[in-house]
Amino acid sequence: MIDLRSDTVTKPTEEMRKAAYEAEVGDDVYQEDPTVNELEQTAAEMLGKEAALFVTSGTQGNQIAVLTHTSKGNEIIVEQDSHLFNYEGGAISAFAGVQPRTIKGIRGAMDPTKVEAAIQEDDVHNAETGLICMENTHNRAGGAVIPLENMDAIYKIAASNHIPVHLDGARLFNAAVALNRPAKDIAQYTDTVQFCLSKGLGAPVGSIIAGNEEFIKRARKWRKRLGGGLRQVGIVAAPGLVALRTMVDRLAIDHEHAKILAEGLGSIHGINVVNQVDTNIILVNVSERGVTSNQFAAMLKEQGVLVSTFGPQLVRFTTHYDVDKESIDEALRIVNKL
Ligand SMILES: Cc1ncc(COP(=O)(O)O)c(C=O)c1O
Repeated sequence: MIDLRSDTVTKPTEEMRKAAYEAEVGDDVYQEDPTVNELEQTAAEMLGKEAALFVTSGTQGNQIAVLTHTSKGNEIIVEQDSHLFNYEGGAISAFAGVQPRTIKGIRGAMDPTKVEAAIQEDDVHNAETGLICMENTHNRAGGAVIPLENMDAIYKIAASNHIPVHLDGARLFNAAVALNRPAKDIAQYTDTVQFCLSKGLGAPVGSIIAGNEEFIKRARKWRKRLGGGLRQVGIVAAPGLVALRTMVDRLAIDHEHAKILAEGLGSIHGINVVNQVDTNIILVNVSERGVTSNQFAAMLKEQGVLVSTFGPQLVRFTTHYDVDKESIDEALRIVNKL
């Protein structure tokens, strides 16, 4: 199978498995796991933040951020197609007790003037705006990179209204590599950031949230409340360190593969690539073929190619570490044949 469903399907490298085996461990609830401490310190430095916290998943990281920043009854400003709003099981309402105010972005980027207009006035009738969230790269916008000027403008508006900003940077390093800038250049426009070790970076488990010391102290408490305080978790953190040290720069290869795949797919009659391919995600509209996305995905599966679907017409192809150039060429041959 050529698995192009998601970059979450990547398997840990041999170096990661070895690092897990050899990891020095301690009780991380006591903050005595040296490997976790090293991972958190390394991540904080890479993001230009004071501190970081290892969490079990991107969803947990985002939700801990919302819980830490907001109070019940707050409103949070999120992009309409964001992961936080669409794909986290309604957790912002279920756990933090906040309501979303959504803004439709362009390629995932919210218009700063719309963000400003969405901030609630101080009035007894209104929910208080407790947080503004961005997503970079933006998944549903097809791995789109949110321009730094856009992030900067939103961050300034947030600061002047004393509202914190959180970045869902599940694929932050894809954005950094695409922009040819260090991750901290992106994270500078947010108070807190979450990124996933277990997507394109290839680690088996985990995410990082980062921010100032005070935020991370309170986030640690929320992680514990949610049952995310783990013990000898250096076993799992060690592959994360390998990911940060060895897997960032090579994301450029995934982006290159995505461009090749998009170009090939776009040349097939009735297959329309609908996104500008900035990173590792390609969105294809298959309706002109007279099939639904589910039917198209099923036909591809029979031929040995796995893709995911986004609604009735869109199919998503995602490139990653476990798909080499030969597999990309083979996938194109299969789609062409179909
Ligand atoms: C943009 C974005 N944010 C958050 C997540 C959640 O990550 P996890 O699956 O580790 O909970 C994902 C997962 O696909 C994502 O694409």
